[in-house]
Amino acid sequence: MRVLITGSAGFIGSHTCVELLENGIQIVGMDNFVNSSPEAVKAVSKITGKEYPFYDCDMLDEGAFEKIFQENSIDAVIHFAGLKAVGESVQKPLEYYHNNIQGTLNLLRLMRKYKVYKLVFSSSATVYGMNNPIPYREDMPIGGTTNPYGSTKFFIETILQDLAKAEPEWKIALLRYFNPVGAHASGLIGENPKGIPNNLMPYISRVAEGTLEKLHVYGGDYDTPDGTGVRDYIHVCDLAAGHLKALEKLDDIQGARAWNLGTGKGISVLEVVHAFEKASGRPIPYSIDPRRPGDLPAFYADASRAKEELNWEAKLSLETMCRDAWNFIVKSQESQ
Ligand code: UFG
Repeated sequence: MRVLITGSAGFIGSHTCVELLENGIQIVGMDNFVNSSPEAVKAVSKITGKEYPFYDCDMLDEGAFEKIFQENSIDAVIHFAGLKAVGESVQKPLEYYHNNIQGTLNLLRLMRKYKVYKLVFSSSATVYGMNNPIPYREDMPIGGTTNPYGSTKFFIETILQDLAKAEPEWKIALLRYFNPVGAHASGLIGENPKGIPNNLMPYISRVAEGTLEKLHVYGGDYDTPDGTGVRDYIHVCDLAAGHLKALEKLDDIQGARAWNLGTGKGISVLEVVHAFEKASGRPIPYSIDPRRPGDLPAFYADASRAKEELNWEAKLSLETMCRDAWNFIVKSQESQ
């Protein structure tokens, strides 16, 4: 089987490339490096000892995108490519809708033209919006998203559901990620956002390495055990393994099916801070600041469907997530 990975140099994409190559699956990578770098493409080969075709390609460039399908016999696609910064999406909604939705439509048209009907889509727990009780279950209604980024995930899921209903050849996995963190144990790939990080763990990493002064904890008065926000943090290698399981499951399903990829366990901001201090041996100074607009107090997965149907569950602990995220920072500094 040969699988096209869009966004293959990104955080989750690169770890999934490793998981697939290590399990004997051939891959074709593509990325436009808007929020990633060519080093990740090389690092995947270094970790696995395997070379693979890679295209520096933007999915909005239909001609260049089609070339990938012309030059490779693709059997399935894992679609990661997309813009993903929540705050930026509020400032630049047109860019987000154009890139994420038009990019996906280009992909789907090419897949149909080249008769590739198996797709794993990188969705998000954000599709559950603000109206569902926790834990989130896949059979809950989706929508009620709070920002354009989240709406692109919701709209793309809707497009894929409609497509799967209309054209029975399609087999589509909708993977709803919770909060992916950590890094590959080698320290060669990890999360390396450009600019000041928006997400918690990359921000904490920068504080630990000394490039940012302190963490701003967004809200200390939520109705949670310690007052700070609660999320379902999942190690990116567990998440990558979930993609392989979903890919293998596609033969057995008809149409589109959603699976949560989370641990099912809620962890507070301060628990992450303390675990990271322990893993890095560095203090993480922080202040409790006002809540961030649009943040929910707490959410985590009901992860039972993925366990029952994909035979997948998250295995790696918060300690391992922090250890590996820190190891990636240390290794990146060493190689500079
Ligand atoms: N937080 C801080 N300080 C920071 C950054 C985050 O206190 O500097 C807190 C947030 O308030 C929240 C928690 O840390 O309580 C996690 O925040 P992240 O920004 O890391 O993640 P979110 O849960 O807000 O968002 C993530 C992804 C989105 C996705 C969403 C739902 O970034 O892409 O989960 O799945 F849509």
